[in-house]
Amino acid sequence: MDRIINSAFKTEDQLLEQKLRPATLMSYIGQTKVKENLKIYMEAAKKRGEPLDHVLLYGPPGLGKTTLSNIIATEMGANIKTTSGPAIDRPGDMAAILNSLSEGDILFIDEIHRLNRLVEEVLYPAMEDFVFDIVIGKGASAKSIRIELPKFTLVGATTRAGLLTAPLRDRFGIMSRLELYTPEELKTIVRRSAKVLKTEITDEGALEIARRSRGTPRIANRLLKRVRDFADVKYGGKITKAVADEVLTILDVDKLGLDSNDKRMLKTIIEKFGGGPVGLETLAVSVGEESDTIEDVYEPFLIQQGFIKRTPKGRVATDLAYKHLGLEGVTDENQLKLV
Ligand code: ADE
Repeated sequence: MDRIINSAFKTEDQLLEQKLRPATLMSYIGQTKVKENLKIYMEAAKKRGEPLDHVLLYGPPGLGKTTLSNIIATEMGANIKTTSGPAIDRPGDMAAILNSLSEGDILFIDEIHRLNRLVEEVLYPAMEDFVFDIVIGKGASAKSIRIELPKFTLVGATTRAGLLTAPLRDRFGIMSRLELYTPEELKTIVRRSAKVLKTEITDEGALEIARRSRGTPRIANRLLKRVRDFADVKYGGKITKAVADEVLTILDVDKLGLDSNDKRMLKTIIEKFGGGPVGLETLAVSVGEESDTIEDVYEPFLIQQGFIKRTPKGRVATDLAYKHLGLEGVTDENQLKLV
């Protein structure tokens, strides 16, 4: 069971990671709409003395889906059990997890789109009617037994809601999409994390890290730790804008937060495909990445920043991309005529 449900033992690193995560909705920065809605749904459920409806959290990696699921448990005064789609191989594993739940528990399944079909089918009646069926015996003497489950809340996390099968998606009463964070929100997160790490940081230093974190708290916290290392060793421990800038440049994170992978993708569209349009699969083969990684990890930020556009014929690099990379190119207008 330890392999399927997270073990209780944590390394130093995991403990620090945990401290960087906010524990309550109040201390969770950003995602205002999602927070406001969840607050109401949770209050209503508590008022009625019922568990919260099943929740699907979706959005690019690193935005705080796991954090939010833990907060939901805290706010509901519930226990949480955590697992992930790829960790559950067989329907029997899922049945065992469901069977271990108590009334009101939260079951968090990360990467829920990676559950296999047979495992997923165990979830349907469990989510809908809080029951599951097990088949005992084989062949003509096989019998199906229905087992009642305590009322629980399933919180699923995935990068895109569209990756879920329709029957699974339809069984979530609450679907919340997490968005990339603004630099101001990330600045607040960086300042808060610096405090947890007991590191001195200026406002401008925090904003510099925030601006270059691709709208993603996980990246902001990762960069903060690296900048802190340099600050500790070379600059007496204080993070200023100049220190942040120097370290981020060394780490190959440019002024707008693009790293070498982002730039490789933009350059591929521009240099190998004349700026596009290029189909997702062709692009994936060309840059040597999974198409899912391109869609989930690279694209959301590059689209939000206006470096690429999605068109019916494929991905197109914009004028801004040419300019940012210092390349000559066709104008957006001409590009659109080609599409
Ligand atoms: N750390 C990671 N994500 C966070 C968030 N949304 N608010 C506060 N701290 C965070």
